[in-house]
Formats: sequence, structure tokens, C-alpha cells
Amino acid sequence: MKRKKIVAGNWKMYMDYEEGRALANAVISHLQPSETIVVLGTPYIHLKGISGLIKGVSSLKLAAQNCHQENNGAYTGEVSAPMLKSCGVDYVILGHSERREYFHETDALIARKIDAVMAQGMQPIYCCGERLEVREAGEHEALVSRQVSEALFHLNEEQMRQVVIAYEPVWAIGTGKTASPEQAQEMHRHIRSLIRKQYGDGIAEGLTILYGGSVKPGNAAELFGQPDVDGGLIGGASLKAEDFIAIVESI
Ligand code: 13P
Repeated sequence: MKRKKIVAGNWKMYMDYEEGRALANAVISHLQPSETIVVLGTPYIHLKGISGLIKGVSSLKLAAQNCHQENNGAYTGEVSAPMLKSCGVDYVILGHSERREYFHETDALIARKIDAVMAQGMQPIYCCGERLEVREAGEHEALVSRQVSEALFHLNEEQMRQVVIAYEPVWAIGTGKTASPEQAQEMHRHIRSLIRKQYGDGIAEGLTILYGGSVKPGNAAELFGQPDVDGGLIGGASLKAEDFIAIVESI
């Protein structure tokens, strides 16, 4: 089975309104037609406007970086999955290590957010990955197994087909330390084997697994060349259109 290749930018909390529009326009003007799905993961305030800008560019999709688990209610400052859907959002990044660390998100909470997103027909990009001390203790596969099973294994087969997983070792995020292609491949193969055991070969082989953590134009091709690495989730390098496009073109 041919898996979908995805390169997603996670802008995090960067780019004011005008900067965001300029970045989206620069990506649009440099993007070459290809089968790779290119995703812009923007702050909430950009979503509606950028959804209008990318209309008609079929390979470009829009992602939010979070959403609330309830559809509506008295949750001051929060944004729900139906609201995101109404702004043209295709994907929602969930379980990012920064949300786990700074906003105390647990796998149980993330599982509810995944349900809320899928109920609206959007696709979750579920992030998992270990901190440095966990890797040093040799427990990274066990930890990622737990993250994957606790957040995803309540899903049925149809739902699981819509999920994208991003492996982002915390020690490689924003640090300039990339996982080696071998380390990335080893964990991606492990994640695919977890999905195979739970959901069977067809779903496992069709699952897109992204690598994230200090991906740059200079290291993207080698990472993306690994058999179980189906693209990337890009932080810092997604904020410069030339770098982001160069990464997209490395796949
Ligand atoms: P960097 O590419 O800046 O390391 O960030 C990775 C990331 O967290 C993407 O979600």
C-alpha cells in the first residue's frame, strides 16, 4: 500500500496576523505540484484567513495546534472542535510535548480531544515521544507504547485509518539535536508494529508516521528516506518559507 506522505509545519506561538498571511502566501507561491500533503499548523487567529488563502491549492491543508475536548460550554478562552471545523481546519495537532509539559495534558485527556476532533471529521496528528532521561534509561519504546495505546486504542478501525502519528523525541525539539535516521526508523517501526498488533496489517501499513524534532533542509532527506518515516512535523524551520519548502521537496 502506498502511504500518504505529509510534511506539516507547526508554527507554535509565532507569527502575528500579517506575518502569518505573508508566510502562507510565500509557501503557496513556492509550492510545486506533488503528491505530498503539506499542512500549515497555525495559531487559532490565522485559521479562517489562511483557509481562504489556500482554497484551491489541493495539496495544502490547514491544522490547528490544539482544541478543547467539549463541543461548547462555559470554558473561557477555549476553542472547540466544531469551531475549528467551521473555519476550514483539516487536521488538529494533539498531544504535543509542549502541551503535555506546560498545560499538564495527559493521555486520557488527549484521548477525549481526539474523539472531539474525529467527531467533526477532522484528522488528529497525535504526537508522542520520550524525554531524554527516559531514552537514557532505555525505556523509550515502553513509554511510547503507553502513549499510543492510552490515547488511540479505544478507536475503531475506521477511525484509526484517519489518524496520523508524529514521533517527536522531546530531547530533539528546538534543541538542534536531531534523532539519527536509525533512531527515528527504529521508533517508527516500533510504532507501526504496535498498530499492527492492535489493528492488523492493512491499517498499520497505511498509517502515516511523521518524525519531528530539529528537522531542517540539511537533514530532512536522510530522515525521510527511512522506510517507516512518512514525512515530518516541522517547528522552527516551518517559519521560513524557503526552508519549509526545501524540506517538503526532500521527501
Ligand atoms: P523543531 O522543529 O523546532 O525542533 O520543533 C519540532 C516540533 O515540536 C514540531 O511540532
